[in-house]
Amino acid sequence: MSQRTLVLLKPDTVRRGLVGEVLSRIEAKAGWSIVAMELRTLDRSTLETHYAEHEGRPFYAPLMEFMASGPSVALVVEGERVIEGVRTLAGPTDPIAAAPGSVRGDFGTIVRENLIHASDSEESAEREIKIFFPEGDAAVS
Ligand code: RTP
Ligand code: MG
Repeated sequence: MSQRTLVLLKPDTVRRGLVGEVLSRIEAKAGWSIVAMELRTLDRSTLETHYAEHEGRPFYAPLMEFMASGPSVALVVEGERVIEGVRTLAGPTDPIAAAPGSVRGDFGTIVRENLIHASDSEESAEREIKIFFPEGDAAVS
């Protein structure tokens, strides 16, 4: 079942020079491909839309500040079961609980700066791809 998912390499990944490392893990999965990609500092309104589900939570304000603290890489990945697959490749939210071998498990220590975001369902993927790539051929039809 081919799918598309929205992935963000968060500002810590860009600052630490780990973009190539994470992209290579995605590219290494058989049949997956990057179909859109952009480096950009995310603005407040984009972040508010993206993280709307977390508004009001205690970690919301520091999360927004962190996510706007420098450039991120936004990309759309296409391939077999890629929504579940990139979540597995990323590991669970808390990097200390994440297994070695996952991106968060290999490179992260604190929950906020956990390197990568990946859509968590088909509905989220469709919604999030439109936020970051409102036009062009990455749009889910
Ligand atoms: P994401 O949405 O970024 O892919 O991460 P996720 O599904 O694994 O985690 P989620 O619960 O959606 O949380 C979104 C992001 O908020 C930060 N966070 N900080 N307690 C905290 O300090 C806390 N909890 C969450 C993380 O950056 C998390 O990825
Ligand atoms: Mg999430």
